[in-house]
Amino acid sequence: MAAETKTTLSVIKADVGGFVGHTNCHIELLDTAKARLENAKHKGEITDFHVLRCGDDIELIMTHRQGRASPVVHRLAWKTFRACAELAAELKLHGAGQDLVGGDFDGDIGELGPGVAEMEFVERESEPVVVFMADKTSAGAWNLPLYKVFADPFNTAGLVLDPVMMEGYSFRVLDVESGRSVTLRCPDELYRLLALIGTTSRFMVSEVLRNGDGEVAAAVSTQRLASLAGRYIGEDDPVMIVRCQDGMPSVGEAMEPFAFPHLVEGWLRSSFNGPLMPVPFYEANPLRFDGPPRVVAAGFQVSKGRLIGPHDMFDDPSFDLARRRAVRTAEYLRRHGPFQPHRLGAGGLRSSSVPSVVESLEERFEGP
Ligand code: 13P
Ligand code: MG
Ligand code: MG
Repeated sequence: MAAETKTTLSVIKADVGGFVGHTNCHIELLDTAKARLENAKHKGEITDFHVLRCGDDIELIMTHRQGRASPVVHRLAWKTFRACAELAAELKLHGAGQDLVGGDFDGDIGELGPGVAEMEFVERESEPVVVFMADKTSAGAWNLPLYKVFADPFNTAGLVLDPVMMEGYSFRVLDVESGRSVTLRCPDELYRLLALIGTTSRFMVSEVLRNGDGEVAAAVSTQRLASLAGRYIGEDDPVMIVRCQDGMPSVGEAMEPFAFPHLVEGWLRSSFNGPLMPVPFYEANPLRFDGPPRVVAAGFQVSKGRLIGPHDMFDDPSFDLARRRAVRTAEYLRRHGPFQPHRLGAGGLRSSSVPSVVESLEERFEGP
């Protein structure tokens, strides 16, 4: 039945070469990606697409009818990134092919380096979605905003005012150390949820589902580049999709947490804590000490698979104060130089040179 036809929204991202350093994406790479996806749209492999970027990460935002983890769509993304990486090598961009750590494509691009956030739904009468894209951080950066949007009535008035939302939402949480996931139903299990996701380096919300009907509300890319590669290559720079309105948080409720530039892991060499700065598309160029970390948000209305948009959501003076706060916080934190808590603790520096320095001094340590 046509009314039951499902639309899949796939956001697949990778850093395949930075311009300059880790600041931005070169326009020729973006044009290459657009040409590839345009061709795939002509062939009917995808319904619609947009190519956006945050810092040095390219985001392929695609709609189609093939469900999540479609080998056709994942292969398309893989080949697109490979083509962009070849061009990046030609232009000698920084870290050409950086995030493409896997060898041959075998059906799941999430095993090869790029980040993937996907959701499948029957389009409602109106289907507003916001795609959040971050640079210089990891997926744990979404924990706090997701908690606020889907579990905190001080952020989301709909949890109190909308009878559908009053049933609450369930959070799927990934333990990146064990690779296992657990689903916690809120508000009943609010405190258990916070006990886990406050540890942003280990527990990451991967999905949010609406209680009652199980409708998907949010999806996150939780791929861990360093785990896949076995060493530090670059940051995960995650993406997140949030559905809005009509039994979901309003667009304003989904944006509201970003008025507070909370501290996230990442920044320079993925080794520092810094404020997540919400910026319009044209300001997503992390520069000071390779940062501070950035987030951009692209709003769309999805209509029969078409992506109507994007609207540049943070291009709004009501986020000016958040940006200023982020700059002030960055200024304060930078004064710590290589010291904690600006620099990450030992766990966060596992793939840096710090453990090998400690090891090299092993013989010279004295005492018991
Ligand atoms: P990216 O992951 O954005 O390439 O950043 C890597 C880095 O080391 C920045 O200092
Ligand atoms: Mg880079
Ligand atoms: Mg990046």
